[in-house]
Amino acid sequence: MPDAVENIQRALFERFGERFAVDGRLPGLDDLAGLAGRRVRRRFLNRDISEDVLRLLCACALSAPSKSDLQQADILTVRDNERRGAIADMLPEMPWVREAPVFLVFLANGRRTPRLAALRGKPFPNDHLDLFFNATVDAAIVLATFLRAAEAAGLGCCPISVIRDRAREVSELLSLPEKVVPVAGMCVGWPAEEGGISPRLPLTTTLHSERFDEGDLAAQVDDYDRRRAAARPYRNQRDAARFGRAEFYGWSEDKARQYAVPQREGFGAYVRAQGFHLD
Ligand SMILES: Cc1cc2nc3c(=O)[nH]c(=O)nc-3n(C[C@H](O)[C@H](O)[C@H](O)COP(=O)(O)O)c2cc1C
Repeated sequence: MPDAVENIQRALFERFGERFAVDGRLPGLDDLAGLAGRRVRRRFLNRDISEDVLRLLCACALSAPSKSDLQQADILTVRDNERRGAIADMLPEMPWVREAPVFLVFLANGRRTPRLAALRGKPFPNDHLDLFFNATVDAAIVLATFLRAAEAAGLGCCPISVIRDRAREVSELLSLPEKVVPVAGMCVGWPAEEGGISPRLPLTTTLHSERFDEGDLAAQVDDYDRRRAAARPYRNQRDAARFGRAEFYGWSEDKARQYAVPQREGFGAYVRAQGFHLD
């Protein structure tokens, strides 16, 4: 499968700036090429997704592994124009939410397991942080599996965590009951753009062997900033009025500026108000 090998190597070189050895006899090379070349899509054709296709993809996503087989992740589909429009109105800086024919919300459902205890007349001494954490992890795995399934079917996706900026309103709009919270939304549609591979930190930084080793983070980030800027320079500098214009504006500068502003300070209070105990 020489094409798949080449595609994987090309994509991973763009991603990590490194040439990886790929054994052409490995099974599943086309799948690996799909993963290596994956990219977010934010432009969509004006074309619907059939209910059968959507259900199929959700079933594949919900086939993801689940902690203790507890099955604490749900998907909520939003197709209705008015409801999708209401979500899009909350996020005017993200027009792709309005453009996508389907909007999904991946839910951490910490409600079902205590309900099972009640239905079976058993105590439930597990109403603490782990309930929230397990349900959130399950929902994130389902989200990632949906992405894979959708891309295999030729669809494009953009996860939307910004819905958590408006978590209370979103919960109300979607009638989320106690102990059910949105982990992220997702735009799904037929892609209207190629998109591009987003370079990642090198494996020296993010892949550890046997023991955690931070290495020379500053040098690694400098290298990454340069490699990334050569391939995908930022068009705008964030908060230039506050931080000034940087001569070189790289990924680390952008992320430092992004997180110099409080983000979702009220999220803990929202999660608690939804009935989760976080201790
Ligand atoms: C959990 C999660 C939440 C995200 N939330 C948003 C979002 O609110 N808006 C958006 O435009 N992109 C969002 N993204 C997409 C990321 O910005 C994107 O994955 C990242 O820039 C890397 O690009 P890539 O996916 O093409 O590699 C999110 C991605 C993930 C995994």
